[in-house]
Amino acid sequence: MPSTSGSAPGKIILLGEHAVVYGQPAIAVPVHQVAARAFARPLLRAPSGTIHIVAEDVGMDEDLANLDDTNPLAAAIRLTLLELGIERPIALQLKVSSSIPVAAGLGSGAAVSVAIIRTISAFMGHSLPDERVSALAFEVEKLHHGTPSGIDNTVVTFAKPVYFIKGQPLQTFHVGQPFNLLIADTGIASPTRIAVGDVRTAWQADSPRYESLFAKIGGLVQQARRSIENGENTALGPLMNENHALLQEMGVSSPELDSLVSAARSAGAHGAKLSGGGRGGNMIGLVDEGNAGAISQALSAAGAKSVIATVVK
Ligand code: PMV
Repeated sequence: MPSTSGSAPGKIILLGEHAVVYGQPAIAVPVHQVAARAFARPLLRAPSGTIHIVAEDVGMDEDLANLDDTNPLAAAIRLTLLELGIERPIALQLKVSSSIPVAAGLGSGAAVSVAIIRTISAFMGHSLPDERVSALAFEVEKLHHGTPSGIDNTVVTFAKPVYFIKGQPLQTFHVGQPFNLLIADTGIASPTRIAVGDVRTAWQADSPRYESLFAKIGGLVQQARRSIENGENTALGPLMNENHALLQEMGVSSPELDSLVSAARSAGAHGAKLSGGGRGGNMIGLVDEGNAGAISQALSAAGAKSVIATVVK
């Protein structure tokens, strides 16, 4: 068996987070500046069935047999073997690494799953098609994130901008003119599961109010898709700002996110909003290439722990 490897990029949600869990559309784009990677090689002297996982980033150096499915790496491996109908694979070592910040809205969990599923299936000589890779990564997401919409596994698997509606087939769309985003990290780890659970509790307590917020967000997402397709990128800024205001109303922003959003706007961003689960993690700003450097500096001065520049195309 030759060695194999697999990877997946990070992602950000441009508009539509949270509302997407309730059936509204959302737009997400890959972030190629960060990635998760996996690498498998045969372990010639170990008994068949042995899978040894090394993930230095999280301090893991462990046999699969010692991990249960509460560990997402173990779950991704087992689901892949089950999909392929393999009970006792030849012994292998799986190395996993990622430059995607964890619990920051950049799709780290889904990207790690996709990298593992690709690497293990290729190692077994049966590389899975993207539809199956995404579906298996979604199973891992469900084990670990409560009620995910499926947007993360979809965008990191297909590595293209997606217009996503829960439970519907993938829709990619045309980006009329490339546009620039800055992604700034509050440095506050915020598990998506908790923010999603809190929104669910609030929705249960006052569903008319939350349904109306979700529907307004869905409308913004539809307008944003048209603007992007037509290459009217500056029109996207006000839509992002409105989306942020609705997320604030839903209770998923935070003082740190709001202060980075204000800093980006004051420094000349066309629009800015939190991205992902909220409470912490990252915000995004729509910028021109010419002022990206100045806005990035303003974000750092306002407390951003890191700033990533990316181009959506
Ligand atoms: O993984 P994050 O933090 O980008 O959040 C995913 C977006 C949510 O809409 C909040 C949840 C979901 O499953 O779609």
